[in-house]
Amino acid sequence: MKQYKRTTITAALPYANGGVHIGHMAGVYVPADIYARYLRMRGQDVMFVGGSDEHGVPITIRARKEGITPQDVVDRYHALIKESFAEFGISFDVYSRTTSATHHEFAAAFFRKLYDEGKLVERTTKQFYDQTTGQFKTDRDIVGECPYCHNPEANGDQCEKCGRDLDPTELINPRSKESGAQLVLKDTNNWFLPLNEYSAWLKEWILEGHKEWRTNVYGQCKSWLDMDLQPRAMTRDLDWGIPVPVEGAEGKVLYVWFDAPIGYISNTKELCESNPGRWGTWQQWWQDEDTRLVHFIGKDNIVFHCIIFPVMLKAHGGYILPDNVPANEFLNLEGDKISTSRNWAVWLHEYLRDFPGKQDVLRYALTASAPETKDNDFTWADFQARNNNELVAVYGNFVNRALQLTQKYYEGRVPQPEALNDYDRQTLAEFADVKARMETLLDSFKLREAQKEAMNLARIGNKYLADSEPWKLIKTDPDRVRTVINLSLQLTANLCIAFAPFLPNSSERLAGMLAASMQTRPEEKVEASVVLAWNRLGSTDLLPVGHQLPQPSLLFEKIDDAAIQAQTDRLARIKQENIAAAFRPAEVKAPVGYDDFERLDIRVGTVLECQRVKKSNKLLQFIIDDGMERRTILSGIAAYYEPQQLVGRQVCFIANFPPRKMMGIESQGMILSAVDYDGTLRVVTPEQAVRPGCQVG
Ligand code: 2FM
Ligand code: ZN
Repeated sequence: MKQYKRTTITAALPYANGGVHIGHMAGVYVPADIYARYLRMRGQDVMFVGGSDEHGVPITIRARKEGITPQDVVDRYHALIKESFAEFGISFDVYSRTTSATHHEFAAAFFRKLYDEGKLVERTTKQFYDQTTGQFKTDRDIVGECPYCHNPEANGDQCEKCGRDLDPTELINPRSKESGAQLVLKDTNNWFLPLNEYSAWLKEWILEGHKEWRTNVYGQCKSWLDMDLQPRAMTRDLDWGIPVPVEGAEGKVLYVWFDAPIGYISNTKELCESNPGRWGTWQQWWQDEDTRLVHFIGKDNIVFHCIIFPVMLKAHGGYILPDNVPANEFLNLEGDKISTSRNWAVWLHEYLRDFPGKQDVLRYALTASAPETKDNDFTWADFQARNNNELVAVYGNFVNRALQLTQKYYEGRVPQPEALNDYDRQTLAEFADVKARMETLLDSFKLREAQKEAMNLARIGNKYLADSEPWKLIKTDPDRVRTVINLSLQLTANLCIAFAPFLPNSSERLAGMLAASMQTRPEEKVEASVVLAWNRLGSTDLLPVGHQLPQPSLLFEKIDDAAIQAQTDRLARIKQENIAAAFRPAEVKAPVGYDDFERLDIRVGTVLECQRVKKSNKLLQFIIDDGMERRTILSGIAAYYEPQQLVGRQVCFIANFPPRKMMGIESQGMILSAVDYDGTLRVVTPEQAVRPGCQVG
């Protein structure tokens, strides 16, 4: 493997139009931070780059809704996001923003170079245009009638009623969402990046050169590269963004996905210029072959970081390319997809309000269920179990026992060990190679497994203490107890190091309880008698004999059921609110006369038998007592009932539907059901039992 001089680590720039939630943290920021902290502790020269992505259409939509400017929106959320990251110890070396002057200049110059060198293709396309405001409209700014279900308020990109993806040109009578004006199609020129011209190069670089990338990342790249790549527009007709630096391109801005990844570079430049003595030049971090580049992202960003941005860098020339892109899958919340618009999320600022001081608990729980290879689920029950059964019962318990016993027996001084016995040696052997094991896992981005290794150290310690029972030996065999406590304290110091990339606050606190200092950045000199550094992980002489420890406090505390219940209650409330908001009764149908109604013969029957229809997921077969005979009716409600639930129940059915055959069975009528907002069917039943065969009118 190539030896690099330094590593540039980037974490996807979050859109500054909302807060940060656990999905973002689990997918991108916690893993990126663990990796950055780990490399720094290993003594590597690292720059961890972050920032807010402040352009793009959703920001303008939010601004319009709130009656403020897009700049107001991004100012508010940039501050909130930055604060949340700081609270959770995401150790960015720089966290800037894409509305900065440095970024605007840098991104514009990058574009201009591609333009000047003929690397972009100019194309004319037709786009919807609002003649009243003189503006082109983006898909999401257009509404009209859905050509499929005739919902009059379908969006330009999707109909919310029937769920179909749409192209705005399919809409009947497209109008501007903002002004309501009818829209016309008008020619517009934009500049495209000819991805197709880089297809062979991409195949070679990724499919041949990076077989070590995560399967999900490699697989997504492969499926893109197996299709024919198309030129992609790098400019947009919009008024929020970086103006296209070309004569005659007024009213156009750079595509947000063109400028955002360049933000990584311009933020680097900002940091280097603010402290060149420490950071050198931005070119060292982006253009030197001895620099390794790693992008942390969520799976929805793979194409941008593995295909489009590398093509931009290649077309420009002079840049290094990502060595790895450890993208994560998605984290769900209590079984449902996290959704900002439905408020189905755990927001960091709300979490901190409800669990003050417990940042590391969330970091731990998110890493423990990190969606590294597949989508994963966050549940509050799991969160509580991770805290109570692992952090408190294993890690905290071990550390607390070791520290308390030291106070009790030795007034807080690290005791002198005697000769080790076989059991001590066996215990030492169990954690001797922890450093190598953790490094192998961390180097291959298996952070969840690496965290498990750290917890395993605490399990070893707990077992060692429990088996050695120093509290029983203190009177009879004090030499043995000194050895056991010394070894337990050395293990505690090892835990402090092993957990440092994952739980930085807890390691800092634990280091305090060991009267030691953590070496988190080797370039910084630490003035302390005991320094805990990554390269000492696995050692048994971290704490010198006689070293005085202060009175300890608890490292973690139990989380009670009431705190968890409050969170699940909150989610249940949100679910109810979403249901209420999502349900809009269908429009009333065209009027009918009483005669029309009278022609329908609706009756009540009692269900005698009910069973699933073989080979059908949908159909239930009913035998109904209709007051005269046993009548067979098929109904498509198998997804909503177990057949046995319906036996003995009364249902309403249309008796005069002509019989029709389904799956080889003749159905003699139709059972009436109410269709709930989400499509769930519920049979219609009389409020009290009536005689089978009664008519409904
Ligand atoms: O998906 C997102 O949230 C984007 N704002 C990520 C941008 S990453 C980078 F390119 F800046
Ligand atoms: Zn529709």
